[in-house]
Amino acid sequence: MAAQDLVDPFGRTIRDLRISVTDRCNFRCTYCMPEEGMQWMPRSEILTFEEIERVARLFVERFGVDGIRLTGGEPTVRAHLPVLVAKLARLGVDMALTTNGATFRNLAHELREAGLRRVNISLDTLDRAKFEQMTRRDELPAVLDGIDAAIEAGFDPVKINAVVQRGVNDDEIVPLARFGRERGVEIRFIEFMPLDAAGNWLHDDVVGQDEIVARLAAEFPLEPVPARGAAPADRWRYTDGGFVGGGGMVGVIPTVTKPFCGDCDRVRLTADGQFRTCLFETREFDVREVLRTGGSDDDLAALIQRAVGTKWAGHQIGQVTFVKPRRTMSQIGG
Ligand code: 5AD
Ligand code: SF4
Repeated sequence: MAAQDLVDPFGRTIRDLRISVTDRCNFRCTYCMPEEGMQWMPRSEILTFEEIERVARLFVERFGVDGIRLTGGEPTVRAHLPVLVAKLARLGVDMALTTNGATFRNLAHELREAGLRRVNISLDTLDRAKFEQMTRRDELPAVLDGIDAAIEAGFDPVKINAVVQRGVNDDEIVPLARFGRERGVEIRFIEFMPLDAAGNWLHDDVVGQDEIVARLAAEFPLEPVPARGAAPADRWRYTDGGFVGGGGMVGVIPTVTKPFCGDCDRVRLTADGQFRTCLFETREFDVREVLRTGGSDDDLAALIQRAVGTKWAGHQIGQVTFVKPRRTMSQIGG
């Protein structure tokens, strides 16, 4: 069937589908989860690989979506993830994965063979004690090894995501950038967003893009890379060269201080089959219900079109009208 663009009320065409494959995680990052007491979704509520494939196929074949990102929780804790990757790879679109990297060494080769090309690994600090404080797990060596494994397995590009929190790891901006230059990987600094389970987010905890770039520019020669398009990161190129691989760039994802909602082409499917048109939305559309009550592809498509018809102009973080979503980042998918 010919592709039919999914266009929202603000004229944005949806091109990118983010699929959360599990809400579970082997870490407990303070900006995402509480230490204890996360309520996991019951297994029966989690979409099967066949259900995920059916929804993804519809997005690609009917609606012309050309990018899929698998997220979690931590996607690698979902059993048999390479089986899903192989199914989705057959759709022939660009596919990426976001992972905390701690067990990536075990899966890197298999995922690459299954058709995954790109990977984003989260790394917020190079200090082992601070890493343990931030993730509540002593896994820095495993994550560094996971990054090496990703490079060795031929993922291209390998990118690093670092969430920056004032007074926690803002002193790591330059060291992380240096690490990226040395390893030939692109670091993307992410502004801390109000999606933490504890609801402790304060505007003052956000280190904004301008401040991040100023700190980098004091250390390295940078020039801005124009034309972000729909991608969330603004990027800068190091003008001094001299490092291997594709690590000549550094990025910032300025969700809070410079929202890029106007260019957003993303929609999301949670592990329990709820469709969301924004990370910060409070409304969800029950795709699983349609899947499990014998709905046709036309029924699914109608629900998706109705949902996309509600995609708002943008989040309102920092304004009084902002309402924090009930779900945490781990339950929505990054
Ligand atoms: N603010 C910004 N980024 C976050 N992530 C998780 N919680 C938050 C938050 N509150 C990031 C992770 C990972 C991606 C999945 O989302 O660090 O890079
Ligand atoms: Fe797990 Fe990612 Fe949340 Fe950390 S941010 S607890 S790695 S889902």
